[in-house]
Amino acid sequence: MTAPALAVRGVSVRYGGLRAVSNVSLEVPDGKIVGLIGPNGAGKTTLVDAIAGFVACDGRVEIAGQDVTRLKPHARVRRGLGRTWQAVELFDDLSVAENVAVAIGTPSPWATVKELFIKPTLDKARVGGVLDSVGIGHLFEAMPTELSEGQRKLVGIARAFAGSPRVVCLDEPAAGLDTSETRALGLQLRGLTSGGTSMLLIDHDIGFVFGTCDHVVVVEFGEVIAEGPPHEIYANERVIEAYLGSSALRTNDPGGPS
Ligand SMILES: Nc1ncnc2c1ncn2[C@@H]1O[C@H](COP(=O)(O)OP(=O)(O)OP(=O)(O)O)[C@@H](O)[C@H]1O
Ligand SMILES: [Mg+2]
Repeated sequence: MTAPALAVRGVSVRYGGLRAVSNVSLEVPDGKIVGLIGPNGAGKTTLVDAIAGFVACDGRVEIAGQDVTRLKPHARVRRGLGRTWQAVELFDDLSVAENVAVAIGTPSPWATVKELFIKPTLDKARVGGVLDSVGIGHLFEAMPTELSEGQRKLVGIARAFAGSPRVVCLDEPAAGLDTSETRALGLQLRGLTSGGTSMLLIDHDIGFVFGTCDHVVVVEFGEVIAEGPPHEIYANERVIEAYLGSSALRTNDPGGPS
């Protein structure tokens, strides 16, 4: 049996007296999209920070079967981990293509400093391909200041996929996108899995998560309260009570991945 692209085993994170993430375990198999949902403050971003190495945690994080729990963030990127941030930071003086180009190449602890001083060399075909994969190939030469919030978001997603990662954590990629952009993003993410890329997908848009993911994990107060395929989570009374509110699901059947 091959190791999953990402495994989180008994991970806990404390902020002072607060247990933001409590003994969470989950796996993201190769080429699959696993959704992570839960109310505001449930610990979703904190879990991604622990996976990416931005906060210390108890427990174990594995990428493709290798323990990365003690590695710095850039070393985890080198092992094949990509991520997006809830708030997108782009270099406003670089074009969209250059913003993606800086994310290609070997990450190092000095990458951020270097990026400030050195214009990235542009592999046009590769950058164009990455932009196309999230549906913004036409924005190749645009400057970030000319973009809508949704388009900035998509550039952030393109950056996460630029280094051909094995697994990507997407923190609310659909926030700021309109309905048709969200639907298109779901299809594009499904398309990216055909190359073997795996994803952990966080979003508050339940229709988007259920329609895009193979498997869904629900967290509340830092703990996993349910997990399973979308149609099971959709029907899970505890999830409906604890998170979604009975009207949210019953009036808006999101369907499942096709
Ligand atoms: N740097 C921090 N220092 C202290 N507490 C924090 C910090 N970051 C988050 N928290 C707290 O940890 C808990 C989990 O927050 P987190 O941001 O992970 O939730 P979330 O599920 O991502 O929420 P949202 O859906 O609003 O993005 C919250 O109670 C939050 O206030
Ligand atoms: Mg969050």
